[in-house]
Amino acid sequence: MSSLFGQISDRWTYDLLPSHSDKLSCHRVNCNRSRQWTGVALVSAVAVTIWLAAASLRRRPYNPLDNYQNINLLPVTVGHSVPPTMSSRRAIVSSLYSDGFAIAVAVVGHSARTANVSARLLLPYLEERVSEKALCIVRAAGWEPYPVPFIPPPHKGQDIHRRFVDQYTKLNIWRLDQQGIDSAVYLDADTLVRRNFDELFDSPFNFAAVGDVYGAGDPRGFSLTFNAGVLAYRPSSAVFDDMRQKMEIARYPLKQAEQAFLNLYFGGTALLIPYTYNANLAIKTRSPVLWQRLADEMRIVHYTVLKPFLLDGQPSNAILNAEEVELAIDQSSRREGGFFREEVAWWQAAYRTMMLDRGHAIRQCYL
Ligand SMILES: *[C@@H]1O[C@H](CO)[C@@H](O)[C@H](O)[C@H]1NC(C)=O
Repeated sequence: MSSLFGQISDRWTYDLLPSHSDKLSCHRVNCNRSRQWTGVALVSAVAVTIWLAAASLRRRPYNPLDNYQNINLLPVTVGHSVPPTMSSRRAIVSSLYSDGFAIAVAVVGHSARTANVSARLLLPYLEERVSEKALCIVRAAGWEPYPVPFIPPPHKGQDIHRRFVDQYTKLNIWRLDQQGIDSAVYLDADTLVRRNFDELFDSPFNFAAVGDVYGAGDPRGFSLTFNAGVLAYRPSSAVFDDMRQKMEIARYPLKQAEQAFLNLYFGGTALLIPYTYNANLAIKTRSPVLWQRLADEMRIVHYTVLKPFLLDGQPSNAILNAEEVELAIDQSSRREGGFFREEVAWWQAAYRTMMLDRGHAIRQCYL
């Protein structure tokens, strides 16, 4: 009886499952000892895990303001009374580092023209990467392309995200003072102008940008750092030279390339402007209500989450023809369960307007 009870109680006492090695090799006495050690190991493991978790909670994520370094002594504002800039001394500027973005850049420029933004359209490009055909297309859309030198990432490209290797070349836009530009707005190739934003050119602030937004599920959410896809700034070769020097000595996460650097350089003194100037599709995934609120006033939409001009969502160096562009648009409007159908339709409308208006000249480029 007692042995039976013993067996039953043995069987029914809640215990750790024996590991394979316990089951196969140990005698009872040894097992008890190894159970003790297992218990000690387990308690230690739990303690270490809790300690690590607490440490990681204490360690805040990198932030350029917490880690500020005084590398930029530019005043916050341009001056007390800022005279209005003449449209010949204003520029919208983007960048073209690959043929695959030629159509997208053409649409950005043409959309700015359609919104009657009064500024020149200046397009820095990399001579060794961009074909005559691509230049022909962007010219037909209204851009004035001009070649710029490649700016290699600092520290010989250490730790940089491969996708961002070309991005420091963007800093060339600060040298537009040499082309007579007093005030400029930079737009990434994956943006679209929906309304006039002339007010940005007469901003009394030396630098303005829009808070970055990370999609649903990313704890950074609505961030206090800015997104570098839309920048309102005052070109200055002196600032350019300064940035080129500071790039090598500043301490910031190298992975995020020029955006992380610009956030360190300008973050503490930038004017943060409303999301309507860089309406990042990630806002819609985080807060459809906010997106709805902004929709009618959006000046510039930023296609971060999906790019209506990429076939199969893949970047390539090829210039798509008209049918391929329509196919890419169609694919994009179905992506994410059709969540961005309306935003893709905006881009489609802008593309079609461009083709109605400049299609003849653009088609010539394909011959
Ligand atoms: C742009 O200007 C043209 C000609 O003055 C005008 O017909 C058109 O409505 C304007 N577009 C916008 C978006 O203001």
